[in-house]
Amino acid sequence: MSDYKTITVEPITGTIGAEISGVDLCNLNDQNVAEIRQAFLKHLVVFFRDQEMDIPAYKAFASKFGPFGTEPFVKTMDEHPEVITVLKEAHETNTINFGGQWHSDWSFLKTPPMATILHGIDIPPFGGDTVFANSYLAYETLSDGMKRIVDPLVAVHSARRPYGTGKSILGDTSKKSMTIIRSEEAHEEVEHPLVRIHPETGKKVLFVNPVYTVRLKDMTERDSREILDKLFTHSISEVFTCRFRWRRNSVAMWDNRCAMHLALNDYDGYRRELRRVTIAGDIPYGAAKPGPDPLAMANG
Ligand code: SIN
Repeated sequence: MSDYKTITVEPITGTIGAEISGVDLCNLNDQNVAEIRQAFLKHLVVFFRDQEMDIPAYKAFASKFGPFGTEPFVKTMDEHPEVITVLKEAHETNTINFGGQWHSDWSFLKTPPMATILHGIDIPPFGGDTVFANSYLAYETLSDGMKRIVDPLVAVHSARRPYGTGKSILGDTSKKSMTIIRSEEAHEEVEHPLVRIHPETGKKVLFVNPVYTVRLKDMTERDSREILDKLFTHSISEVFTCRFRWRRNSVAMWDNRCAMHLALNDYDGYRRELRRVTIAGDIPYGAAKPGPDPLAMANG
């Protein structure tokens, strides 16, 4: 029997991603929202098709899942400071695209966003798919010995590789149609447990990504590289992934606490535009950085 009474949920792989149908995102009732959240927690990323929404409707839909997150280093829309336009114009060929390397959105923040919601506006005739990877499985499939090694580790995250003042992994950001704001602030470092406990499911997650996780605490980048590279490679094993083919008015909503993603850059000569908001999250915790004590919280 289906877990859902008001929506239809069809997994797109055995490990991550589900398409939700039978719902209009401009007209959601409380039961729809609760069931979408249930599917989102179970499948890590959920997709919708044919959802025509202007920006106020898109924001109204997104805000049903929590307050908006902050959007550092990328210029937001003038009238809508919560929304960024993810854009690559047709003439931007042989460039590095925004979001084109495996990452979890804004993991360098003290409170990284819990979710991101993307709405397809102008989609190339082929290419530009987004790929997602399940970071619960990345942890669960480590050997017991490896789990014992990684459980107590603290990872250092920073925005410096794409948004710092040195050479950017995004290439020449001044030539992009998206306005990227490079600054000294991007060099700040934030520590998160390498193994995070998901605050809603209680499951362990390998919370690392090759863009923003720059090193392990008390180690140099060079000393950290071998173990981090091993974890990054393991995290993106094909069987942990799904791939989403965009159409105009498709929507994807993913859980940054337990999934990584990347945007494929295989559509040179075509325009690709999507709108993006993030939903605020909480401070990551795990064995290496204990979180709220449930008893203390219950007792006020
Ligand atoms: C992002 O990383 O948020 C962008 C993903 C995409 O463009 O598909």
